[in-house]
Amino acid sequence: MRFQSQSLNRREFLRTSAATLVAGTWPALAGPAFPLPEKNVRYTSGSPSKPQRIILDTDPGVDDAIAIFLALRSPELQVEAITPVSGNVPLHFTLPNALRLIEIAGRPEIPVAAGAALPLVRRLVTAAYVHGNNGLGGVEFPEPKIKPAAESATDIIRRIVRANPGEITIVAIGPLTNIATVLKADPAIAPMIKSFVLMGGSLSGGNITPAAEFNFYVDPEAARIVFDSGVPITMVGLDVTNKVLLRESQVRKLEAAQNPVSQAAGKIMRATMSRIKPTKDETVVAMHDPLTIASLIDPSVVALKDHYVQIETSGEMTAGMSVGYYRGPVRRSPPMETGIPEEPIPTEEYKPNCKVAVGVDPDQFFRLLLPRLTANA
Ligand code: RIB
Ligand code: CA
Repeated sequence: MRFQSQSLNRREFLRTSAATLVAGTWPALAGPAFPLPEKNVRYTSGSPSKPQRIILDTDPGVDDAIAIFLALRSPELQVEAITPVSGNVPLHFTLPNALRLIEIAGRPEIPVAAGAALPLVRRLVTAAYVHGNNGLGGVEFPEPKIKPAAESATDIIRRIVRANPGEITIVAIGPLTNIATVLKADPAIAPMIKSFVLMGGSLSGGNITPAAEFNFYVDPEAARIVFDSGVPITMVGLDVTNKVLLRESQVRKLEAAQNPVSQAAGKIMRATMSRIKPTKDETVVAMHDPLTIASLIDPSVVALKDHYVQIETSGEMTAGMSVGYYRGPVRRSPPMETGIPEEPIPTEEYKPNCKVAVGVDPDQFFRLLLPRLTANA
């Protein structure tokens, strides 16, 4: 098991921590300065005999497409519903794309319920420059034959969670508008949700601004509602997903396999490779959403660490930033001077609200992904 993380080694960590304890300053470190949790920590995960029941909220999206295929080809997961949202491209593409993807995967029985077309309070920002105008890399697939569910995303999530309290994990791999809408419409549902597993956020810089990751940037208010919900959260952010990069040789494996899923995945990835500019000397596609799904199938592919994460919603330049503390004190920005006699700068007690993925084994991820997409169904 080979983890990639930015943490210091143990000796450096202890030296730095000691310095921090003495100086009381925040260690200015490159990346998380703590040892990764022991590998043998067991996480709850599904099994073919008792699959994890999930609702998949998504903005397909080229990496969403790979994630959806992986989820639908993994017996450890039981996909109860798919709820498209506007994000990478508008809902009028993400909805039919979700229908196309379950048809290609031969799973027309899975309900697809339309979600939000717009963020809660902001204008929609999309990412067609990465995902193509149609959201699937520009690859043209036939119009889907199946129709969306009659229910809205909010209604189907509320119905399934309320009918199965404590059983349903909501996996969100796009902006969190649908999830926040459920929590606003039905606050009493939060304790019935088993957990949120999110592709989103970053403790080490953004990908659409220097501060924010795309999913949280598109709807920061929705992300804040989710992180304030009290529901157990696993955050799979850019800290790990940027280390899981699909390369030419792996695209060729997808293209070589003769099944509808790998052929579609190969076409979408080939089109995406030709669209995005090469990173240094090769073109790679980050597996943001597929890693999030893989962490449900095999939790040991990532290393998790408790954090308190809060989402910036009022920054002119930082909206959507996920600010993560792995220890206290938690500080808000200094209050404006009002002339009132000196008040202590408020700090808050450290109370973790999520587990953040801080380490990843990319090889283990691809050993899981590729056989499942290339196998003959
Ligand atoms: O920042 C990466 C995330 O934004 C992924 O979910 C990708 O599909 C886009 O939605
Ligand atoms: Ca996505």
